[in-house]
Amino acid sequence: MNATTDPAGRIALVTGANKGIGREIAKGLAEGGATVLLGARNAEAGRAAAEELAAKGLSVEFLAVDITDADSVGNAASEIEKRFGRLDILVNNAGISVDKGAPPSQADLGLMRDTYETNVFGVVAMIQAMLPLLRKSDAGRIVNMSTGLGSLTLTRGADAPLSFSRLLAYNSSKTAVNAVTVQFANELLDTPIKVNAANPGLCATDLSNGNGRPPSEGAAVAIELALLDADGPTGGHYGDTGPVPW
Ligand SMILES: NC(=O)c1ccc[n+]([C@@H]2O[C@H](COP(=O)([O-])OP(=O)(O)OC[C@H]3O[C@@H](n4cnc5c(N)ncnc54)[C@H](OP(=O)(O)O)[C@@H]3O)[C@@H](O)[C@H]2O)c1
Repeated sequence: MNATTDPAGRIALVTGANKGIGREIAKGLAEGGATVLLGARNAEAGRAAAEELAAKGLSVEFLAVDITDADSVGNAASEIEKRFGRLDILVNNAGISVDKGAPPSQADLGLMRDTYETNVFGVVAMIQAMLPLLRKSDAGRIVNMSTGLGSLTLTRGADAPLSFSRLLAYNSSKTAVNAVTVQFANELLDTPIKVNAANPGLCATDLSNGNGRPPSEGAAVAIELALLDADGPTGGHYGDTGPVPW
């Protein structure tokens, strides 16, 4: 998984990049020389984050995109088409975790629907909208942010390393992200486009209530997957130390 394409000249879109891991992915790709469209649903926060990175000399621009809003997703695709005519890298980073800690038997179905709307349907909507642009790239890369909590192997049974986490909506939505990753990877097997899921590990962001390692460390695996060369894998889920079990 180490061989990488040169980010210079690549056009990348990172969703939910106004803060947290997404911001670090945007920064890392731009530091390598990519032109990064910093996706955010909140224009003020998105513009501020993009301006802060641009002030460091990086090629970063704000792009408005709410992944749960079909018009917003369509407008983002039209804007990229108009400006660049293609997209090389799509990082589906935007995600939410809104479980309230109730056991599955008492979980709020509304919160579960909200979670799937963003974490699953939003990811599918983004891939569908951006695929025509990614097909125009000579090395299209899609990275979907997942987590070890989406792994059935790591969460099943009392002895599993992540069985302490009982987030019905979040964990199962990320299991679905893994399946979505495999489905798109399979459809695109005879194209240059690679589709993989990234596990950043626990990172200190708003989503994790500040627990974990610096988000820049979690961003690294997503950046690596975004820059895979032609011999790199597709349809996998990877963390720092290699493949994550399904
Ligand atoms: N932090 C961890 O420990 C950890 C571990 C494993 C996986 N992950 C995954 O990594 C990704 C980033 O998480 P994070 O920890 O960096 O979270 P975060 O700091 O809470 O950032 C989440 C980002 O997603 C955006 N977002 C949420 N809903 C959106 C929507 N409908 N449209 C567009 N953007 C939207 C947020 O925008 P607003 O600012 O407007 O809310 C924010 O920019 C998520 O997919 C998460 O599941 C995180």
